[in-house]
Amino acid sequence: MGLARGLPGPVVPCPALMSPRPPGCAVHGARGLARSGRAGLTLTLYRPLLRMTQTANRARLVLGNWKMHGSLAENAALLDALRAADAASHCQIGVCVPFPYLAQAAQALAGSAITWGAQDVSAQAKGAFTGEVSAGMLKEFGCRWALAGHSERRTLHGESDQLVADKARAALEQGLVPVVCVGESLEQRESGQTLAVIERQLAPVLALGREAVAGMVLAYEPVWAIGTGRTATPEQAQEVHAAIRAALTTLGAPQVQVLYGGSVKAANAATLFAMADIDGALVGGASLVAEEFLRIAAN
Ligand code: PGA
Repeated sequence: MGLARGLPGPVVPCPALMSPRPPGCAVHGARGLARSGRAGLTLTLYRPLLRMTQTANRARLVLGNWKMHGSLAENAALLDALRAADAASHCQIGVCVPFPYLAQAAQALAGSAITWGAQDVSAQAKGAFTGEVSAGMLKEFGCRWALAGHSERRTLHGESDQLVADKARAALEQGLVPVVCVGESLEQRESGQTLAVIERQLAPVLALGREAVAGMVLAYEPVWAIGTGRTATPEQAQEVHAAIRAALTTLGAPQVQVLYGGSVKAANAATLFAMADIDGALVGGASLVAEEFLRIAAN
């Protein structure tokens, strides 16, 4: 409970961001601070964990989330431009496209280092689930990524934290890499609940266990920053990323890449990427413009 009281204390191993937690669990502290009404973690409290992770050598990953945009002609131009630029030489790069365009992405990007994926995946393997797309089907298109729990799915389609975790598990079972998205609303941030919300959203995901979580990517996307042009400051983002990293470290999966998403552009990517626990970006609007997306990935 030392962290909760604002004092650096020993990190007690615990299932991070899960309950019940033993006294002294680092994440207790995170929640305590969140409940105390402060905007986020005081980074100094996490210095021991940050020291551990700053030396970690996690690859930079920049993923585009096209959302419900595109057409065969527009996609062809965008995919050709990405491929021609060999953007993958700067960092890992991928695009998450609408389901009908998976075949086009697979064909256009085949043989390149650029990867592709879907924006959602069913928690079910097969059966009478009209409109759903299974992880096994995605695998057939050579998908690497499957977003799970994007805030637009959570809010517009009522996806629960447990469903998001089930989707992540289904993706892992087929050898896909789930990109699990979490993030708070503006109201939640302003009422000091940011870390409590992240904790709640991550709890069923972390409950899948160390081995499963080690096969995922996480994305912190504050809802108030998505598509609004209002980016979290690097410090705001890092505070949450540090808390997520602490939970991952406690779980024994500190190497998991944690992306930031929410109005990432070429102009702000470098300062975000400079933060210790930000391993790349999940990019919406700016991923639809090849030059902008490539400039983000070139950082
Ligand atoms: P944005 O979207 O970059 O347009 O804010 C990010 C996302 O929703 O993943």
